Amino acid sequence: MIDEIRAARDAALSQIEAAGSLQEVAELDARLLGKQGQLAGFKRQLGALATIDEKKAAGQAVNDAMESVSGALRRRTADLGNAALAAQVAAERLDLTEYAGRPTRGHAHLVTQAWERLEDVFVGLGFRIAEGPEVESDWHNFEALNMVEGHPARGEFDTLFVDHAAEGEQPGRVLLRTHTSPVQIRTMLEQEPPIYIVAPGRVFRRDTPDATHMPVFHQIEGLVVDRGITMADLAGTIEAFTKAFFGSDFSSRLRPSYFPFTEPSAEFDVQRPDGSWLELGGCGMVHPNVLRAGGLDPEVWSGFAFGFGIDRMAVMRHDVADIRDMYTNDLRFIEQF
Ligand code: FA5
Repeated sequence: MIDEIRAARDAALSQIEAAGSLQEVAELDARLLGKQGQLAGFKRQLGALATIDEKKAAGQAVNDAMESVSGALRRRTADLGNAALAAQVAAERLDLTEYAGRPTRGHAHLVTQAWERLEDVFVGLGFRIAEGPEVESDWHNFEALNMVEGHPARGEFDTLFVDHAAEGEQPGRVLLRTHTSPVQIRTMLEQEPPIYIVAPGRVFRRDTPDATHMPVFHQIEGLVVDRGITMADLAGTIEAFTKAFFGSDFSSRLRPSYFPFTEPSAEFDVQRPDGSWLELGGCGMVHPNVLRAGGLDPEVWSGFAFGFGIDRMAVMRHDVADIRDMYTNDLRFIEQF
């Protein structure tokens, strides 16, 4: 009988091993260990055995068989359970780094694009990029640029004064720079000529926003100081810039104008291929007083300067009707560029 029990146990173990699902294992559990099962049947037959020893030995064998069968069922249940869990985790795996929306590639703001292109073009023409602070002294912004206290041209720059006195400054003489021209002075004081720089940057005026004005906008300043620089160098540089930036079918002209810090002064315009003119900015030969304020001898050095609005230029280049559209950050507008 013991051999039969062992054979039944081995058959049960191999069925358990072959079970492929938790449900199959549950069915085997009921069948192999239940009252109607083969092992239970052996138990019932124990009474019919002849001797106590035979009963003992066979009873032990049935118990051992039942234990190993129930152990195997437990292990199989655990194995299949783990496998099912792993499959479920794999199936339901959620990659939180995965972006479900339509991937879109952003781009620099229109003004940044124009700013960077301007830098590229001027660097290509041999200029260096210079910088100055946005909070500036009255001296750098006005006085050193030949606009002494009470000069009528100061009135054209609706200045935002800052309630702060920098070291060595009187209160009420610190302001948000109204143009990038103070970088001319800073550059002359910092480096010996020859100077070939452009200085793009943010400037501030107490202008009411309208289609062509913003209280915060951007300019790019240019300054060249060297020996024997003439108005022809200025005109040639403006023309080279116009062709490099706008294209070879554009050209430029200078129109007489007035700025306190240049003499003579001019406005420069750019002609589109259709013949129409765009007014870009101001320029001229650096005034001797400005060279002196920069620590340079006007008998030795001469130079030219120019300055124009980057925002205005971007507006014209892209045919934007209202400069304010550039700053409302409406994606329907921004995404067009
Ligand atoms: C100046 O600021 C001079 N510093 C330019 C200059 C530099 C002349 C060197 C000579 C030599 P003006 O105030 O015209 O000039 O401003 C220059 C440009 O800034 C204008 O042509 C215009 O394009 C732009 N600009 C002026 N005000 C605004 C504004 N409120 N919003 C947007 N752009 C403006």
